[in-house]
Order: sequence, then structure tokens, then C-alpha cells
Amino acid sequence: MRQKLVVANWKMHGNLATNQQLFKAYLEKLSTLTDVDVVVCVPYPYLAQAQSILKDTRLAWGAQNLSKDAQGAFTGEVSAGMLKDFGATHVIIGHSERATAYCESDENIATKFIQAKAHGLTPILCVGETLIEREAGVMEMVVAKQLDTIIHTYSAAVFADAIVSYEPIWAIGTGLAASSDQAQAMHAFIRSKIAALDEDAASRLKILYGGSVNPQNAVQLFVMQDIDGGLVGRCSLNAQEFEGICRAASSCQ
Ligand code: 13P
Repeated sequence: MRQKLVVANWKMHGNLATNQQLFKAYLEKLSTLTDVDVVVCVPYPYLAQAQSILKDTRLAWGAQNLSKDAQGAFTGEVSAGMLKDFGATHVIIGHSERATAYCESDENIATKFIQAKAHGLTPILCVGETLIEREAGVMEMVVAKQLDTIIHTYSAAVFADAIVSYEPIWAIGTGLAASSDQAQAMHAFIRSKIAALDEDAASRLKILYGGSVNPQNAVQLFVMQDIDGGLVGRCSLNAQEFEGICRAASSCQ
């Protein structure tokens, strides 16, 4: 059985003082929730703070991006090894907010995915279509292409114990989440695409849903067969709402 997982993506929010309050509130509310895995993905400068507060707790932490290179003259980049130095276990890769704003290619994203795995970090690969693509009915084709570069360059086996997060771009930060049927259909498509090549990897792969997850819609989404949890933006900045989402995941085990 795949244990449910809820990942907080704080994006570019917070400071030392507000983070400390939020970490503490998370710990108070979530420490007894033993049947859901929780990961907090913080901005790079706060990895040390996450490490000092969350070490030896039930909460894990991670980053929101990493370099495709292991080391070298790449000004401003942060390597997988550096993330490991601060105890990070997970890293978000290919988030649409980066893929669009910083023109990340599928090839770069694939290299980052493998770089993370090679350093023992769990990659959280974001995929998803725009509203225009959904309305044109090509959403599966779009998501398939996002997975194909990794599959063709490496293999489907690299998805074992990795995480894919289906984040329809039209649902991110809009308050308009995908319906549970829409999300389940895409999650099943992703799992079956990997299963056609590697059944074991497909059954171990966790597929999260991201895009306007809140305490009200979380149960409907997490109860679906192929939805293994959520990647949460806005509601992760409020400890009470985030707790509600994590408890929803617990109730759907
Ligand atoms: P929201 O939960 O704010 O829609 O953000 C989703 C997201 O982008 C998570 O990575």
C-alpha cells in the first residue's frame, strides 16, 4: 500500500520569524498524525532553519528546485549535494511556475530528476496542462510528452519510489481545483503509462494532486484510487488549513 503523502510548497513566502511560527504550529498539529507522510518544501535560504527545527520530528523537508549539474561554475545554482548537506529528502522539479518563467526545457527537467535520484533525493516531478490544452482535449498528450523525455532518456524504472505531481496549470492558485474525476482520470493515465513499461515502478510511484487543494476538497480528491496525496501551495501557509488537509489524507488511508 502507498502511504498518503502531503507536501507543502511554500513557494517564495516567509521569513525567519514567520517560518519559525509556522514550523512550530505544524509540529503541534501534526506530530500525532502517524499515518501520513508530510514534507515541507521551503525556499533555499531556510533549509538550515528547517533542519534545526524539524530534525528528529515526523516532518521531512525539501527544496523547490535544484541544479542539473553536480558542481562547477554555475553562478546562483544550488546542487543536489548542497540540499543533502541540509538534510533535505525531497525536491520539487519542473514546477510550472518555473518551467514558464525560466523556460525550463523537458531535457533540463529530466536531467534534474536523475541528478536528484543519484544523490538520494526523492524527486517530485510536476506535470500538467494549460486551460487551452484541456479545452482542446489534448491534456493526456501534453502530460505524456512531459513524462516521455525522462522515460526515453533513462527508463520507466526511474519512477520507482519517485513522485509525480499532477498540477493542472489552470488550477494552481485559482481556487478552482480539478474535480476528483478529472484528477483521478489523469492520475490513472500517468500510472498506466508507466505500468505499460514497468509494473513494479508504477505500483511504487506516488502520484500527488496539486492545484487549489483545501480542507474542503481534500477528502474528495484523496479518496480516489490513484491519488496518493497532495502538493499544497496557498493552504500550506496556514497551519490550521494545512492540518485539515493532512487529516483528510489520514482519513483516506
Ligand atoms: P495552490 O495550492 O496555491 O493552488 O498551489 C499549488 C501548487 O502550485 C503547489 O505546487
